[in-house]
Amino acid sequence: MDCNYLGKPTAEGMECRNLCLVTRIEDARCEEEDINEQEEEEDQSEDVPVAVWEKFKGLAPEKKPKAWEPSNETFSFAGQEISIKESVDSFGALTWPGALALCKYLENNPEQIDLRDKAVLEIGAGTGLVSIVACLLGAWVTATDLPDILANLRFNLSRNTRGRCRYTPQVATLAWGLNLQRTFPSSIFHYDYVLAADVVYHHDCLDELLVTMEHFCRPGTTLIWSNKVRFETDHRFIERFKNAFDTTVLAEIPQEQIRIYKATFKK
Ligand SMILES: C[S@@+](CC[C@H](N)C(=O)[O-])C[C@H]1O[C@@H](n2cnc3c(N)ncnc32)[C@H](O)[C@@H]1O
Repeated sequence: MDCNYLGKPTAEGMECRNLCLVTRIEDARCEEEDINEQEEEEDQSEDVPVAVWEKFKGLAPEKKPKAWEPSNETFSFAGQEISIKESVDSFGALTWPGALALCKYLENNPEQIDLRDKAVLEIGAGTGLVSIVACLLGAWVTATDLPDILANLRFNLSRNTRGRCRYTPQVATLAWGLNLQRTFPSSIFHYDYVLAADVVYHHDCLDELLVTMEHFCRPGTTLIWSNKVRFETDHRFIERFKNAFDTTVLAEIPQEQIRIYKATFKK
């Protein structure tokens, strides 16, 4: 099987469907692994230093539901029914409105954002809806989030893409701002698109988020960020985002306070 270093099949190896799970640079080799067999894999919390993890776990506890009951939601995108299992008690447990808006945009604007055979990274993927839709639209997707989120993310990706997509999606730990150069060195990891939905809300990692966006949004990469504005801090982040990148607004849903931004590297 012909694969490049990231595990993405080369043009000659396009028929290759079983790709490797890229979680660390030393794992970035191509193996015949079935993502479905990884569903029960233990999480990789040790990849995230305690301080950052505690910071995340401490996010707005009053927003967390008192009793959590996992449920299923069904969506329809890219001609397919998508079944999403909501999972653990965290911000990544639900599908957020920014994700729905972004999926709709990607589905309706393939001539503007052509994801076929593109390398796509999603940050803060949560339940995985955006990654699933990108995968259904023909992209080679790596969906990332914090370690606690990955088992459910992997489950949703697997059940909704198996046998339906050109490429098997990857799942990887990516804690914003943390060891980026070590785990995703820019000399090796170059994505055509970086997708992010509702990653800006009331949390303490906005600096780290911007650093992460800057790390991945290099020349040749397009970052697409779908955002529902909720707090004053969101506006401040948007200003910093506009200063960091060349940006345009791709779409807007004013009644929901949602905007989808496109950003490219600023020289
Ligand atoms: C509001 S949820 C949005 C989830 C998904 N994108 C959606 O729109 O449905 C924010 C996501 O960012 C992730 N997240 C929060 N802080 C993070 C951090 N420091 N590093 C990586 N991911 C983080 C959460 O785990 C969660 O999945």
